[in-house]
Amino acid sequence: MSETSPQTPYGTLPPASPLAPRKPVSLPRLHEMRERGEKITMLTAYDATFAAVADAAGVDCLLVGDSLGMVCQGLASTVGVALDTMRYHTESVVRGLQRVQGTAWVIADLPFGSYHESREQALRSASVLMQAGAHMVKLEGGGWTTDTVRFLVERGIPVCAHLGLTPQTVHALGGYRVQGRGAAAAERLRAEALALQDAGAAMLVLEMVPAALSAQLTTELTRCATIGIGAGKGTAGQVLVMHDMLGINLGKNPKFVRNFMTGQDSVRAAMAAYVAAVKDGSFPDDSLHAW
Ligand code: KIV
Repeated sequence: MSETSPQTPYGTLPPASPLAPRKPVSLPRLHEMRERGEKITMLTAYDATFAAVADAAGVDCLLVGDSLGMVCQGLASTVGVALDTMRYHTESVVRGLQRVQGTAWVIADLPFGSYHESREQALRSASVLMQAGAHMVKLEGGGWTTDTVRFLVERGIPVCAHLGLTPQTVHALGGYRVQGRGAAAAERLRAEALALQDAGAAMLVLEMVPAALSAQLTTELTRCATIGIGAGKGTAGQVLVMHDMLGINLGKNPKFVRNFMTGQDSVRAAMAAYVAAVKDGSFPDDSLHAW
């Protein structure tokens, strides 16, 4: 095993894939990738071991998503996830990366109710996650959140926004369905995205949005990297829930997901296959979309 192979309490991981970033992934590096047209890879991570394995597989960004409410806690939606639970999982992911000198960029979700009251409440909640070791926080929605994003960014907290299907508002949206369909809805989403970029959001997750709309936004947003999930291949990067892409989702996989375990003999190989497929543009293919 080469000396660059990460040591973990569970043994020595295989050497990092040649695609793995050698230098820590940073905001300037992510902007540079977007400008060069190199696709950004993101996976959710909730614990130390999977975080270390994803990092060794070359994943650029790890999202401590509030989807942990479903996949770790067995909840029906993300609405019941507490800020302290997000802190616990963020600390676990960050410790896992530290054990293996990991280089991934860590984003932590602000959970439902932790940023809705006021900009000051959002700052207090974001501070908890940043002090847990996150590099960036993510929050859902446009419109009223724009002011909150500006407030956080001005105080040195990098922010990822999230538009389209926003799982924390699933009850208001009437279910997990495609958003931004039709001219009026698309224009509203576009206006929200541009305002979030102006407020300083450096990344924008677009979930279950028509491919043409997410591709158009990716061209228009020159200071904000779009990350798609069920939003076609035209975004600057892709994100998947780790359990979905490993085929261990307790429910039915969304139809835009590919099971990357197929044909692989390890989780690390499945994650490396995901990284390679996003980087070379073969994931998602035109059959894998939400609309
Ligand atoms: O919580 C999460 O996992 C997410 C992704 C679906 C983008 O927000």
